[in-house]
Amino acid sequence: MLRPNKLAKQNFLSSLDLSTKEIIHILELAKNFKNKDLNIDFKNKVLGLIFDKSSTRTRVSFQVAMSRLGGTTIDLNPTTSQIGRGEPIQDTARVLSRYCDVLAIRTFNQSVLEEYAKWSSKPVVNALTDLEHPCQALADFMTMKEEFIDFENIVLTFIGDGNNVANSLILCGALLGVEVRIACPAGFEPSSVVIKKARKIYDNDHMLKICNDPASAVIGANVIYTDVWSSMGEENQKEDKDKEFQGFTVDNNLINMATRDVIIMHCLPAYRSKEITNEVIESKKSRIFEQAENRMHVQQALLSCLLS
Ligand code: CP
Ligand code: NVA
Repeated sequence: MLRPNKLAKQNFLSSLDLSTKEIIHILELAKNFKNKDLNIDFKNKVLGLIFDKSSTRTRVSFQVAMSRLGGTTIDLNPTTSQIGRGEPIQDTARVLSRYCDVLAIRTFNQSVLEEYAKWSSKPVVNALTDLEHPCQALADFMTMKEEFIDFENIVLTFIGDGNNVANSLILCGALLGVEVRIACPAGFEPSSVVIKKARKIYDNDHMLKICNDPASAVIGANVIYTDVWSSMGEENQKEDKDKEFQGFTVDNNLINMATRDVIIMHCLPAYRSKEITNEVIESKKSRIFEQAENRMHVQQALLSCLLS
């Protein structure tokens, strides 16, 4: 039976904070937790959650994961704590890390997360920023591994906005040797810094393709993944983006161009009939709810490594 290892780097701010070996270890641990082959007690350990944006899956899966480890969670709502009043992060982080054993933070700018990590004496986990969603990527690759076993033969096509979810899929995909293709409207490409970092990890330039044509990007794809066109914080761009993204809906036409065994993924929450059709979410090829469940198992594994 696998035991959690202490992670080399204490914080999980980016997918790149884990090595390939550490990701594989976390996915194995997560599988053991899921199969109920592993029971670890972190009684008295406390996870603090600081969420500047809404959340269903991340918040609840972290809470349940921590409770399954025997620990507890404190939900630090910025509006009822002094965080919302503008207390400096350097004060908040130093105080909270004297109470809590690990902090999971969802916020806008990656620099805010980095500031927490700078001042916290305990591990800080990225629960989503505008730049990355690395916990989501762990659950996503766990779901792909359950389906296809080996990462080497997977072609993952992401259709839509080059956002936080796309960025973490690119980085985690590069570490795991998965071919990643992104099809987005011109001007909505993933972060150029992320692309550059991923290209450095891959030993082959063809493993990461960025294009503006969903049809060509899904040929030979084993996984088709999409996310909302306007992320949290982009509410005022919704109308314009809805127009820009016409032709980028994941529908049956697109799926029929991929491999026969293609699976469909979406991190949720979804806008049915915008980035994905109702029919596709509910189809046999959809692994969207397995993916959501796996958030809990990978985060239990991640926490067990951070708390060891
Ligand atoms: N996928 C995801 O992070 O969902 P929530 O926004 O509900 O946490
Ligand atoms: N890209 C989306 C993901 C939500 C889980 C957002 O940031 O709103």
